[in-house]
Amino acid sequence: MVAVQKDYWYFLVLMMQLCFLKGSVQMKARESKVKLQDGMILDCLCPWTGQLIMVSWTKKPLSQPVAVYHPQYGTNFESTYDGRVEFLKTTAMDGSIAIMNVTEGDIGQYHCSLQSYPQGSWTKDTFVEKAAINTTFSIQPDTKLVAAENDNLTITCDLVHNGDIYKVSIEKVDAEMGTSTIIATCQMLQDGVELSEFNSRGQVNCSDAMEVSLHLTNIIQEDGGLYRCNFSTDTGVQSTTVLLTTLPVQDFRSLHHMLYVYIGGGLVGVALLMILLLTWLNRMKRKREDYRIKLHPAKRQKENILDDMGKWKYQPHE
Ligand SMILES: *[C@@H]1O[C@H](CO)[C@@H](O)[C@H](O)[C@H]1NC(C)=O
Ligand SMILES: *[C@@H]1O[C@H](CO)[C@@H](O)[C@H](O)[C@H]1NC(C)=O
Ligand SMILES: *[C@@H]1O[C@H](CO)[C@@H](O)[C@H](O)[C@H]1NC(C)=O
Ligand SMILES: *[C@@H]1O[C@H](CO)[C@@H](O)[C@H](O)[C@H]1NC(C)=O
Ligand SMILES: *[C@@H]1O[C@H](CO)[C@@H](O)[C@H](O)[C@H]1NC(C)=O
Repeated sequence: MVAVQKDYWYFLVLMMQLCFLKGSVQMKARESKVKLQDGMILDCLCPWTGQLIMVSWTKKPLSQPVAVYHPQYGTNFESTYDGRVEFLKTTAMDGSIAIMNVTEGDIGQYHCSLQSYPQGSWTKDTFVEKAAINTTFSIQPDTKLVAAENDNLTITCDLVHNGDIYKVSIEKVDAEMGTSTIIATCQMLQDGVELSEFNSRGQVNCSDAMEVSLHLTNIIQEDGGLYRCNFSTDTGVQSTTVLLTTLPVQDFRSLHHMLYVYIGGGLVGVALLMILLLTWLNRMKRKREDYRIKLHPAKRQKENILDDMGKWKYQPHE
């Protein structure tokens, strides 16, 4: 009986794979971009609940295999990725991988295909791009700040100094291009501090102590990056740097997309439920027939016993 049940489920899973996974119904998540770097994570976190059947990663355009994960059979890697790729498995439905010891050859489009039960197939593409910050030009920032898009934030540069500061400048550095855009300068004059703004998205303030701050409101993605302040002192120019990282907020487009994914997943779920229900009804019908056939002689016997008992029970009244 147990074996039959197992076969039955196996058949269902197989049918589901044939009907839904190989078919045209595929939920495609929004693609993402990753900069080439050691330990880079290619995200493939399926938002559904259920059971993970298999995850496979391929690299486009030739769909070369990269890695495969199956909860029972384990992992399998293409030889050039063997030992460099790791499945993160942070949740039951996580197909994300991390790639170590990267080379320029790892740049390209990666395709994650996650098969799940009962909702079906979920796919996501990730573009691995050339690293933006050249290793020859990379600057270790003195301060690191993180802000979510639409938030407000103040970037402040100050310097523990010995001599007098007579000028401060703040600029945004484009590490990729090797250029920078000056935002503002503050100059110490006889009667106070003079502020000259050149190119500012925010509000610049200079304090009497020659602290410079840039207040950004409603932060956008382009605000992220490296800021540098140069302090001109009697003893020379000293710099401090601030790296601002912006975190995206879920925008409308991705929300809409998720909605479609959920509706799509729901439809597949409903279809599957219908099949399950029909199969179950069929089985129940057959079972009931079996039951009736088996029950008949026993039922008759039981009725006889009840009759005898009734006779015995009512005997004193006779
Ligand atoms: C990565 O490269 C380093 C040095 O080149 C080597 O020692 C290490 O074993 C490599 N790691 C993997 C996972 O290939
Ligand atoms: C980036 O690095 C390469 C070598 O790794 C160098 O040839 C190139 O000039 C660098 N580009 C910039 C903009 O610094
Ligand atoms: C940011 O500042 C603007 C203007 O001062 C304000 O309207 C907005 O509510 C602030 N946003 C946040 C997230 O604090
Ligand atoms: C900048 O200075 C003005 C007055 O000079 C002040 O009202 C404002 O609050 C300051 N802003 C910041 C972010 O310090
Ligand atoms: C700040 O200093 C760096 C070198 O320390 C220099 O390359 C840059 O041009 C300076 N910026 C300004 C605005 O003077």
